[in-house]
Amino acid sequence: MSYPHIRMRRLRAKAFTRKLVQEHRLAVADLICPLFVIPGKKQKIAVSSMPGVYRFSIDALLYEIEALVRLGIPAAVLFPVIPPECKSPDGHAAVQSDGLVPQAVAAIKQRFPEFGVITDVALDPYTDHGQDGLLNAAGYVRNDQTIQLLAQQALVHVAAGADMVAPSDMMDGRIGMIRSALEQHGYTETPILAYTAKYASAFYGPFRDAVGSRQALGKADKLSYQMHPSQTNEALHEAELDIAEGADILLVKPGLPYLDVLYRIKTQFAKPVAVYQVSGEYAMLQAAAQNQWLELEPCMIESLLAFKRAGADVILTYFAKQAAQWLVSTT
Ligand code: PBG
Repeated sequence: MSYPHIRMRRLRAKAFTRKLVQEHRLAVADLICPLFVIPGKKQKIAVSSMPGVYRFSIDALLYEIEALVRLGIPAAVLFPVIPPECKSPDGHAAVQSDGLVPQAVAAIKQRFPEFGVITDVALDPYTDHGQDGLLNAAGYVRNDQTIQLLAQQALVHVAAGADMVAPSDMMDGRIGMIRSALEQHGYTETPILAYTAKYASAFYGPFRDAVGSRQALGKADKLSYQMHPSQTNEALHEAELDIAEGADILLVKPGLPYLDVLYRIKTQFAKPVAVYQVSGEYAMLQAAAQNQWLELEPCMIESLLAFKRAGADVILTYFAKQAAQWLVSTT
């Protein structure tokens, strides 16, 4: 008589049973692609710390979006790269109705009306000091003045046609402020993707290269508004506040280093949850792959599946296009 009778390997032995019992699946429909947009025409400029990621002028961006649409990717989130001469202490370029983001939004919506256009609501691409808000004389980020500007910025994006706004700043009360502004102006159906638990993370480095805020920021940090990496209860409190203030989707950022936070928010609240696999997470995998220390594709898929396992409904990732290509070719 053979032993053991209970064999976990029975369901692992063949591909069809592995597929039948698979608990979590990645889907193209879960993916949101972050895209960098720059002024000008016919520009496609590589981000050196993010191999495979580019900054596109609006005309070039439309070609990229066409590829995303073909693959079935439902949405993108836009991040502007603002020339240094257009940055200012109060980041006023953020609220110009003919600015880079409103122009990009209008162009995308005109060409691809069904494609979801999400905008980043934050001041750091526009401020000459690289902080996500207005500073007082001591250099402290002023909360209440900043959130008024953020509400204006969100209105400008939505007026240009944005389908959803994503405040990434971590000021207190900004979700409520943006929600009231949208309601007041008749944009009652616009969802807010709230960066609920955004950590003061060192994994944002390559992104700051891409939008040019690393130099602006210099040695300063964002610890007075982004969460300290040690915190989890605080993330739950943030989620409670964002829900009460009118958020529709809650986002955790970065991704892999904060899977516990993602899991806790997902299990505690009956809300869709998003995760952002940030620039540093992307850069690490790309760098290891370039050195032939890791194989890119399986590591990419494994990392994305980890988000599903931890409870993510939505995944923002610079791998969106590549992951969609993989999913389309394997399923
Ligand atoms: C700032 C913002 C950051 C990212 C998105 N929005 C960086 C920061 O807080 O300095 C980082 C995204 C990434 O690293 O991919 N509003």
